[in-house]
Amino acid sequence: MELELRINGVVKSLDVAPNESLMTVLRREGYWSVKHGCETGECGACTVLVDGVPRPSCVMLAMQAGGCTLSTVESLGSARKLHPLQEAFIDTGAIQCGFCTPGMLLSASALLKRNPQPTEEEVRDALSGNLCRCTGYVKPVQAVLRAAAILRGEPVAAISRPDSGESFQPWDPGRSPLQHTEHGAGSSTEGGKPLADKSAVGGDQSAPAESDEGASGTSTATLVGTRVSTDLSVVGKPERKVDGVKLVTGKPAFVDDIDLRGMLYGRLLTSPHAHAVIRDIDVSQAKALPGVQAVLTYKDVPRIPYTTAGQSWPEPGPHDQYVLDYIVRFVGDRVAAVAAETPEIAEQALKLIKVDYELRPAVLDPRKAIEPEAPRLHPEPESYRIYDASRNIAAHLHAEIGDLDRGFAESDLVVEGEYIVPQVQQTPIENHIVITYWDEDDRLVVRTSTQVPYHVRRIIAPVIGLSPRRIRVVKPRIGGGFGVKQEVLIEDICALLTLTTNRPVKLEYSRAEEFRSSRSRHAQIIRMKTGVKRDGTIIANQMLVLANTGAYGTHSMTVQSNTGSKALPLYPCPNIRFVADAVYTNIPPAGAFRGYGAPQGFFAVESHMDEIAKRLGMDALELRRKNWIKEGDENPLAKALGEGKEGFTQVIESCGLPQCLQIVEEKLGWKEKRGKAGREGFERRSAQGPYGRFRRGVGVALAMHGTAIAGLDMGGASIKLNDDGSFNVLVGATDIGTGSDTVLAQIAAEVLGVRVEDIIMYSSDTDFTPFDTGAYASSTTYISGGAVKKAAEQVRQQMLDVAGRMLKANPETLTIKDRVITAPSGQTVTVSQVALHSLHIENQQQIMATASWMSYDSPPPFAAQGVEVEVDTETGALRVLKAISAVDAGRVINPITAEGQIEGGATQALGYGVCEEMIYDSQGTLLTTNLSDYHIYTAPEMPQMETHIVETSDPFGPFGAKAIAEIPIDGMAPAVANAVADALGVRISQIPLTPERVLHAIYAAQQETKR
Ligand code: FES
Ligand code: FES
Repeated sequence: MELELRINGVVKSLDVAPNESLMTVLRREGYWSVKHGCETGECGACTVLVDGVPRPSCVMLAMQAGGCTLSTVESLGSARKLHPLQEAFIDTGAIQCGFCTPGMLLSASALLKRNPQPTEEEVRDALSGNLCRCTGYVKPVQAVLRAAAILRGEPVAAISRPDSGESFQPWDPGRSPLQHTEHGAGSSTEGGKPLADKSAVGGDQSAPAESDEGASGTSTATLVGTRVSTDLSVVGKPERKVDGVKLVTGKPAFVDDIDLRGMLYGRLLTSPHAHAVIRDIDVSQAKALPGVQAVLTYKDVPRIPYTTAGQSWPEPGPHDQYVLDYIVRFVGDRVAAVAAETPEIAEQALKLIKVDYELRPAVLDPRKAIEPEAPRLHPEPESYRIYDASRNIAAHLHAEIGDLDRGFAESDLVVEGEYIVPQVQQTPIENHIVITYWDEDDRLVVRTSTQVPYHVRRIIAPVIGLSPRRIRVVKPRIGGGFGVKQEVLIEDICALLTLTTNRPVKLEYSRAEEFRSSRSRHAQIIRMKTGVKRDGTIIANQMLVLANTGAYGTHSMTVQSNTGSKALPLYPCPNIRFVADAVYTNIPPAGAFRGYGAPQGFFAVESHMDEIAKRLGMDALELRRKNWIKEGDENPLAKALGEGKEGFTQVIESCGLPQCLQIVEEKLGWKEKRGKAGREGFERRSAQGPYGRFRRGVGVALAMHGTAIAGLDMGGASIKLNDDGSFNVLVGATDIGTGSDTVLAQIAAEVLGVRVEDIIMYSSDTDFTPFDTGAYASSTTYISGGAVKKAAEQVRQQMLDVAGRMLKANPETLTIKDRVITAPSGQTVTVSQVALHSLHIENQQQIMATASWMSYDSPPPFAAQGVEVEVDTETGALRVLKAISAVDAGRVINPITAEGQIEGGATQALGYGVCEEMIYDSQGTLLTTNLSDYHIYTAPEMPQMETHIVETSDPFGPFGAKAIAEIPIDGMAPAVANAVADALGVRISQIPLTPERVLHAIYAAQQETKR
């Protein structure tokens, strides 16, 4: 029926079905800024203003909007004239993947219209309906406060940083690292003051940093003393994101933001049973439904074992999956695929497929799955690289150093503990989505939201029966990945639907499917046994891991390998044993998730360190200082464990851990607060006894990670000079919101002596960009950055050769700065003049180069993280009041993007420790399938966040850079558990620390005391 809608000031007459959502209609009309993240009004990605009020358009019928005034981000500002909110979001680094950004901008604009002078709390409330999985809300809140000040006509602090790293002082271990703080890093601080204070935004809106109530106060970030002294002019600066403008204006940047004529809609039928054999499947009625173009079952596709793990060739894990199989192994496993003219017809067709299941016993607990009588999940003979299918063990690892038994025998104290970590979900706001189509050369184009375009091409080729040369994988903008898009999850089946129909097909997961049929972090049971001398020296350490990999073994070996190889070497000792088994069960498979096994390992190790300190009567930080790894030490497990194959010897060349811990110790008030729960001066007022109802505690955890996979990761880059002095930089690296395109542009600009705006970044397309292993293992800055630097050095040399001829000077004597090449005589030519000369005048040649880079070194970044918590002993409710991260990531290329990575990672880690968990019923059906039941942090729930970047310089990375993406997710959960133990005097060794678990622990401790 016809409906008149007033959209962004224009009245449109549209043909609308009665049941169509406003989101569907707006997207069909090309308002691409309205995003799909769920179907239940919970994520806010589809927010539009309806008569000036933010509303989720996915749960509003288009018919309900008749007569209303609708506004989308397309009306807020344009690339030529951005709205102050859009400017502020770019300036402060409030955008990471950018998928939530249009919704946030609209909610913020509605707030500022009704309240031009909001407090920080009011901003957080206004953003409460907009979930962001990337930023931790720190910078979006700062952006809104900044824009509010600009709109009020008040002066705001410039977002800038001194010209070079020269102002930094070498770190003096005799002084606090905080005394070395030169200035705030980029957006969130200026001169050490938070941007959201009076000097920065022109109003005193922010909550006090040390609120009595401990509510979310102003969050801050600092960059502290460094050992680096350079004359860099682009690297190290808070450059604006190269893709910021397109994201704040809602340009069609993501997979789904295209129109293809004749596109079909794919849908998947999934299993309602945790374990069953399909005796028969009847699709005749579904096929007969008008509008259905294809129905595929296991009868229609070749049975080729493969892995969905997007890893380098040869993939090390089990090849135990099939495009469609006659066995289903979890609720949500694929049964059939449909392509139809509309999503509604596809949905209807699924209901017409009749499946005759023979139910098999299911096993959900990994401890039961390895028992002899347990049902076997993978009896099929075709699967391979399974460690022991007869015992449901997908992967097994064993590393041994020294003589562990002798180490325990020589110890003065042996401490044992069991730690349990849950299955949690990556939850990017953009679900998995892929569009496949034939191009004019009869080649298959796969437009997909992936972290690993080259692995997608290689892995799906044999499965769909096409040579890789006939497949082109295009990665547009990605709406968050966090590891879940390191999985080749739906590209294969969508491609097969296109091969069957010869039509473009779109396949997109719903939010419920994203939870039920996607990937997650491995749940683990970890047993620690540690032998120490009386003075606290660790002499023997054992970690035994039982991991639940779910129905398939994707990433099962390498994630578990990381649990040991990242966490145990933090405290090297002569005798170490690490044993891990990844076990099949009938739940949705686990896979890659930011941190990749390390958060599990650090939860165990860092909880256990506090327990050891308690048993020794020693300060928990002193115990860590006594045993931690130092510069010059060798990582004891790097060679033994590697990642999927034997590794390489790793020596620690840079380590900022002492500075990181000192900062957290001071900022947390460790000496004043530790062990003082319920005591005067560190107590929330209560009338109920000396210790009160509300107890507070502080906790700290340390972490080390890796930078890329040594001897495995590799990246390529091509750089070409254009006649206006700009450069095309083509990389296979994948920016999933981390800001890597910006960081790589900075590296190129630095070497080439130009500005970031002279760099035109393009990533990634398997037809046009060089090979890259993809965005995982914290590798992009290090590996792809190394390739960009190398290619840029070659282009620079070619430019100098041409300029030398133009200036009649020796190229060795020339300098390039700010687009100008200068000879010792003082004569100059511009980069653009060099390009024109080279292309049109003399020795005509295209100045260009391609280079690749890999490394046998994986320099670890380090972190100390600390929290202060408050526990309600009556309800078990836990509030994190303050969360501090101090991170050594080597030389920071862009402090704003680095801070954003730390804030976002720390927030995900808080969720891991406090509230996130996938929960099943007794039949293996997932119960947490929406964003209410599976709770991720919202803006108003955030604690006060502090971020401190400790710069060191590592000899291997470009300009001394190490990784930053994963280290901030490693230490928060154990820090929370340690703080709760400090508050209650009771160790809770299972996360998340839900009210039920906290109350249970309190009750158990009370019973123990009574005995
Ligand atoms: S709230 Fe509408 S897409 Fe999530
Ligand atoms: S920037 Fe908010 S979800 Fe990615």
